[in-house]
Amino acid sequence: MIPNPLRDPRDRRLPRVPEPCALVVFGITGDLARKKLLPAVYDLANRGLLPTNFALLGLARRDWGDTDFAELARDAARKAARTPWREEVWERLAGSVRFVQGSFDDDNAFDHLADTLGELEGSHGIGGNAAFYLSIPPAMFPVVLKQMQRTGMAESTPGRWRRVVVEKPFGTDLASSRELNALVDSVFTAEDVFRIDHYLGKETVQNLMALRFANTLFEPVWNGHHVDSVQITMAEDVGIGGRAGFYEETGAARDVLQNHLLQLLALTAMEEPVEFSAEEIRTEKLKVLRAVSIPDDLRTFAVRGQYEQGWLAGQRARGYRQEEGVAADSTTETFAAVRLGVETRRWAGVPFYLRTGKRLPRRVTEIALMFKRAPHLPFADTDTQELGNNQLVVRVQPDEGVTLKFGSKVPGSVMEVRDVSMDFLYGEQFTETSPEAYERLLLDVLLGDATLFPRNAEVEASWAVIDPLEEFWAGTTPHPYRAGEWGPRAADDMLAAEGRRWRRP
Ligand SMILES: NC(=O)c1ccc[n+]([C@@H]2O[C@H](COP(=O)([O-])OP(=O)(O)OC[C@H]3O[C@@H](n4cnc5c(N)ncnc54)[C@H](OP(=O)(O)O)[C@@H]3O)[C@@H](O)[C@H]2O)c1
Repeated sequence: MIPNPLRDPRDRRLPRVPEPCALVVFGITGDLARKKLLPAVYDLANRGLLPTNFALLGLARRDWGDTDFAELARDAARKAARTPWREEVWERLAGSVRFVQGSFDDDNAFDHLADTLGELEGSHGIGGNAAFYLSIPPAMFPVVLKQMQRTGMAESTPGRWRRVVVEKPFGTDLASSRELNALVDSVFTAEDVFRIDHYLGKETVQNLMALRFANTLFEPVWNGHHVDSVQITMAEDVGIGGRAGFYEETGAARDVLQNHLLQLLALTAMEEPVEFSAEEIRTEKLKVLRAVSIPDDLRTFAVRGQYEQGWLAGQRARGYRQEEGVAADSTTETFAAVRLGVETRRWAGVPFYLRTGKRLPRRVTEIALMFKRAPHLPFADTDTQELGNNQLVVRVQPDEGVTLKFGSKVPGSVMEVRDVSMDFLYGEQFTETSPEAYERLLLDVLLGDATLFPRNAEVEASWAVIDPLEEFWAGTTPHPYRAGEWGPRAADDMLAAEGRRWRRP
């Protein structure tokens, strides 16, 4: 008999729906909750990916009732939902939305929250399962975690899971991240902790693993024998928006390099995992992060910059120091670039150039493998003047896809070889649009699938890379660059020192 794949529980096409549960969001009135989390909850509900027995709880200081809260949540979800709006879907969700008012240091509020969870078990059959999302300022983590511990809310017991979602930044250096990890681990067991790096929820980042490990074409050349260098870029055209307070304290290296870029490096450089499971993938990533080397000559190979007034898309853009809330003599970097090595047999000698910045010419995130030149070209030099390195570019955002750049003959009677591009665009090959990163990651939390969440050891290994850079930069002034340029000159000099150039994505 031919097996019916639709009946096969292992069929990956069948949607995975979590067990009955509650999602508790601390900081539900904040920016992240409104822009990302609430829309993601709606989108999941709209796609039928939430369990029938589901409840959404929020805790914040404002004096709201369940109805006010349901209204705010509806507006936020409606504004930013990815999938079409269906009132009936929201109505169903709204019936299980609860708001608990109180401050994080208020014992009564947490007792009330614990009671509400208990009541929902009876009234909504959530089975005692709950995920707690810390969408709050990092300084508030200790007090909230302690409250959860005090009330017994954090305890997973047989037949009931309790999970916690921690937002970045995971500390500000190695010492503080260790402290934070120790605190989180003292309240929740390691497998119940989900650290969000939303980049890992992006479809193309996951496709990087498919590209490498599901094909025979790429892996044989995915090493230092063939790859000359790797460039990982996360560029933003926007400035800091209204987040001066946060950004002044953080800067580009802590905000992006420490997490997103090092995670992309780890996924690019890691060995094949024994199986596609959280444990094995995280093990391989950790091995890479531990093998990352920092250059001795940081003056040349670790560059930070700060944008000055300039032009972007025909509009004047003010300089960082003129942004509201930024000190007139601020030395916070809005651009960071570094050359790292990965000391493994596969990558020894291959530089990994990482860069990130704000107010760059365009918003783009990509990983580019720059291949070595052919060892011999049987053409006249003049025939190949316009031939560059072969490149494999994985574009994470926008226009998610993969581009292969290679030499081709220019049509005509003479032999002239020039670079051409072959493009794969997600939007063209698949009719289904990609879920938002938060949608995917929230679902994974509720399913208990930790594959796309970095483990604490990865976070600590990443800080071990960043700390020496921060130490070197402390007390220095970032190089200026004009808004609308690809960072400071020193970043170009960094690559020029080794005879290379940045890609212009
Ligand atoms: N926004 C983003 O795009 C983004 C991106 C990546 C990571 N993150 C991270 O996500 C977390 C949240 O960021 P956010 O931008 O959403 O922050 P936010 O807009 O400042 O929101 C903070 C939330 O915490 C609540 N809160 C603060 N102190 C409280 C207290 N003592 N008692 C009760 N509630 C309190 C606030 O509620 P009330 O003031 O209403 O009481 C508000 O709902 C942070 O860890 C941030 O680093 C944010």
